[in-house]
Amino acid sequence: MSTFDKIFENNAKWIEEKLAVNPGYFEELAKGQTPEILYIGCSDSRVTAEDLMGVQPGEVFVHRNIANMVISIDMNVMSVINYAVRHLKVKRIVVCGHYYCGGVKAAMQPSDLGILNPWLRNIRDVYRLHKNELNKIADENLRYNRLIELNVQEQCINLIKTAAVQQAHKERGLSVHGWVFDVHSGKLIDLKIDFPKILGEIMEIYRLE
Ligand code: CO
Repeated sequence: MSTFDKIFENNAKWIEEKLAVNPGYFEELAKGQTPEILYIGCSDSRVTAEDLMGVQPGEVFVHRNIANMVISIDMNVMSVINYAVRHLKVKRIVVCGHYYCGGVKAAMQPSDLGILNPWLRNIRDVYRLHKNELNKIADENLRYNRLIELNVQEQCINLIKTAAVQQAHKERGLSVHGWVFDVHSGKLIDLKIDFPKILGEIMEIYRLE
């Protein structure tokens, strides 16, 4: 049986399991959501947001795209950020990249990828910004890993450039975090991005309020 053929059967089992523990489970879910975290991750099928974090339905608002990008003219990610910050009032935003990211790998190759070109261009820009550091890394795999980390860092900075994040940080202490998931070990790594420091450095240019 293919994965697709098992889905409705899996769903029925899942409902049974949830109701066995708590008969009011779905009634409670239907009342609404108050997630504490907005998670922005890669669409990669190996990086399953809720599963790897061990969180339950209702706990994390999730957005995924190729290579976990935060692009200022992408209406999709910007709508998610604005809704999560201004309406759901999440306390934290996480950008989670991952080693072995095909999107980042593709951005390192000199090839025409059609509609993906403008999307991956943003990763090439991250490379250009950090060219001095990256070009010093002789080993291609290590350079690839470092670009993945730097891409997460730059997407965190892109979050900080938005008015919604700046205001929520000032008013109620919203914070931004950069993580990397290591597909090879299953480990989630906190890059410990210094959010207040970065904010201090870029506000001179990016202040919106
Ligand atoms: Co990826």
